[in-house]
Amino acid sequence: MRKGTEWGIGTTALLVIGIIMAAGYFALPQIMQKGEDPVWAVPEGNPQHGAGAIIRYGCFSCHEIAGIRKATGRVGPKLHDIREQMYIGGVLANSPDNMAKWVRNPRRFSPETAMPDLGVMDQDVLDIAAYLYKH
Ligand code: HEC
Repeated sequence: MRKGTEWGIGTTALLVIGIIMAAGYFALPQIMQKGEDPVWAVPEGNPQHGAGAIIRYGCFSCHEIAGIRKATGRVGPKLHDIREQMYIGGVLANSPDNMAKWVRNPRRFSPETAMPDLGVMDQDVLDIAAYLYKH
């Protein structure tokens, strides 16, 4: 009788530990999900509008961009997971501020780059940066 109770407590404790570990395992990817990290947040930018701007300015014709079906261009690099990258265009340290600078005037930072200055408007720059860091 006593032995049985101890066994029961031991099993319950193991079960509880197991449930906590499983919860941690499933919750972690949610916590780490893209867009949550404040370093890459562009609070003034709207990623949904960014997707539209990427189409309007023709970025898709030169870049492969996650989540935009038309964006299959291979003139420039793929922009998937751009937040993992150290530099933008090989010249600017990767940050939301520098992303905005690059999209606005790439040739100011890399005069011989094939990426043209596209006259992207200020709000569109922020929206595009918000989109790129989420995808
Ligand atoms: C005519 C083709 C062309 C168009 C249009 C174009 N790009 Fe680019 N883009 C390039 C090329 C080429 C590079 C590589 C530049 C370099 O490394 O010198 C580049 C680089 C980049 C980079 C840096 C990528 C990296 O891996 O460092 C970003 C971000 C980017 N472009 C975003 C955009 C956005 C946003 C638009 C639309 C507003 C756009 N591009 C339009 C050709 C283009």
